[in-house]
Amino acid sequence: MRKLGLFVTGAVIWGMLVAARPWTSPEIEAKIDQIVAGLPLEQKIGQLVQVSWRNVEDPETLVREGKVGSFLNVLDAKTARALQEIALHESPSHIPLIFGLDVIHGYRTIFPIPLAGAASWDPELIRRNCRIAAEEATAEGVHWTFAPMVDIARDPRWGRIAEGAGEDPFLGSVMARARVKGFQGDHLGDANRLVACAKHFVGYGAAIGGRDYNTTDMSDWTLRTIYLPPFEAAVEAGVATVMSAFNDLNGIPASANRFTLTRILRQEWGFQGFVVSDWNAITELINHGVAGNKAEAAEKALRAGVDMDMMGFAYSDELANLVRRGLISETDVDQAVRRVLRVKLASGLFEHPFPDEDRAKRVILSPEHLEAARQAAREGIVLLKNEGNLLPLSTTGLRLAVVGPLADDRDAPLGSWACLGRPADVISVLAGIREAMPGSDVAFAKGCAIDSDDTSGVAEAVKLAAQSDVVVLVVGESRRMSGEGGSRAFLGLPGRQLDLVKRVVATGKPTVVVLINGRPLAIPWIAEHATAILETWQLGVQHGRAVADVLFGMYNPSGKLPATFPRCVGQVPIFYNHKNTGRPPREDTRWTSRYVDAPSTPQFPFGFGLSYTKYEYRDLKIEPTQIGPAGKVHVSVTVENVGRRAGEEIVQLYIRDPVASVTRPVRELKGFRRVHLDPGESKRLSFELGPEELGFYNVRSEWVVEPGKFEVWVGPSSAEGLHGEFFVVD
Ligand code: NOJ
Repeated sequence: MRKLGLFVTGAVIWGMLVAARPWTSPEIEAKIDQIVAGLPLEQKIGQLVQVSWRNVEDPETLVREGKVGSFLNVLDAKTARALQEIALHESPSHIPLIFGLDVIHGYRTIFPIPLAGAASWDPELIRRNCRIAAEEATAEGVHWTFAPMVDIARDPRWGRIAEGAGEDPFLGSVMARARVKGFQGDHLGDANRLVACAKHFVGYGAAIGGRDYNTTDMSDWTLRTIYLPPFEAAVEAGVATVMSAFNDLNGIPASANRFTLTRILRQEWGFQGFVVSDWNAITELINHGVAGNKAEAAEKALRAGVDMDMMGFAYSDELANLVRRGLISETDVDQAVRRVLRVKLASGLFEHPFPDEDRAKRVILSPEHLEAARQAAREGIVLLKNEGNLLPLSTTGLRLAVVGPLADDRDAPLGSWACLGRPADVISVLAGIREAMPGSDVAFAKGCAIDSDDTSGVAEAVKLAAQSDVVVLVVGESRRMSGEGGSRAFLGLPGRQLDLVKRVVATGKPTVVVLINGRPLAIPWIAEHATAILETWQLGVQHGRAVADVLFGMYNPSGKLPATFPRCVGQVPIFYNHKNTGRPPREDTRWTSRYVDAPSTPQFPFGFGLSYTKYEYRDLKIEPTQIGPAGKVHVSVTVENVGRRAGEEIVQLYIRDPVASVTRPVRELKGFRRVHLDPGESKRLSFELGPEELGFYNVRSEWVVEPGKFEVWVGPSSAEGLHGEFFVVD
């Protein structure tokens, strides 16, 4: 909810505050008072300390002495139970531990990576997937997930683009809400709900050069318009914790940044939960050069608004001394403790602190969860090319060659945060295809490795391809090539995979390239020469079945790209909602904003994705065509399935404010709908645009709607659509 420069009303502000604290209550606040009043300083500080179970020598003693309030990376119910018993019965405060884990896209039933989840443009699906992850994780004693990652990523070199919803703040906000609601549910205190954590606050995705952990430097406009909205959406959805990021933001590291952690997060948005630092981020303030030692780092972080120290040992080692020296007041410590306790109480930790092993047996990898994972995996697939309608393939009467280093790989589909997922649980593409073609002889050759110079298997793969009717060529990245620390300088296929693709395509056989990867890739040769291309990302345990469902037409692909695909690394960063510049690119003149050696357009634009059917858009209507700054317009359009298969289209609405007091993007996504259409069926869809969609931050960082013309597009991607316009008048 925006602070409306022109239209602040009591109702708007009241709505914001209530939304930001849906899970606390007067009883919880009273209980916090009572606990804090009885805790000595050392025990209070213990509540602010989080350590990784597998990285400390003697975790039991830390608990027994009240020196830790939270663990991360406890990976089994037995250990969780044992540590919790000590906390409740042997620690001085008897306050339960909160166990955190990176349950990013599934616990044991692994779902598509979040980028693929965003490609579904289906928030209800994402909410259900997160509910399932919560169901499984909580059964084994996990209380808190370090998810969702809601960082906007406009640079596919950055490996962590895999963990978020891509480049767009609107889609990112929709997904952030869905994930928070999925993990936390409507009642955070239920035993099968996970406390969520919006991370990494903030700007982390804008790391220079796409190098992980690198510096970010951006205008207030960019911060508020591009990077903050998904966090604000998560806070509105009731997220109980936020993680402060590693990066330096405009000269002040995010984990020492009072402006973002206190002014924006708490004062502007009314966030009532607690902030945990990222791993060692407090102590890394020394490397950043804003603290001379650990004590200064602890002081800066606590003052800025970081409540819990993840694996930095700055609070455990320094806070008590800082209080004794008068550099930090005990009231400041109390404030952080209160926030941690609020979440511990609201999440029902005191009522159900232990794992529920019986429930774990029932729910983990249950058929219902596997079916949900299959549906999520299907919806994440994006059809990028389908020349001559090669796809879908027939399951019979076809000699199929399945080729490529990822065809029978059961590791890559797990993605970079596999959590407790195991390769043995994964259906590879080859296995999925074989399952869909019982009785057929599906030939397979690996061809080459994912990332080495060895080409010894290429000849055999090419021979196999030459003997087939159609080749399914599965190439891409290993899961270590994206995710944290997974930045890449090149965005093509690693190793000798492109050579393999070229040799296979040279056989003249129709070739379906199936990509498995954690980011947009630069694949110009494949885009031009492959017959069909399926972007399948990393789809989790049901990867192969979902790919087979799409290859053979049991599922009509509906995914759309949540991030732009560049033609080459030199175009990066390239994103659809860029500014126009004074000299927008024109290919016929040198003196515009362009390259002399590459086109200005992307390979595949944001929002793009094909289907096995065809949708026709018509009758765009905007009513009224003139409104006041507080008014609303209704945009409606008819979409018809003019093809022969049922399908789901993701109808996207973009706007542009072409003349304003500050420069505005050439297009901005402001709405979308997923619509099911049978062959020949048409539906009329409508959208509403009001101050929330039409406004922007002006030079004084106020949310305003300025009079003038607005352009509207409704269509199948950010590069197409029916066009219309309306006017805002004073
Ligand atoms: C560091 C990562 O940046 C963060 O996303 C993650 O939650 C923590 N490590 C804990 O594993």
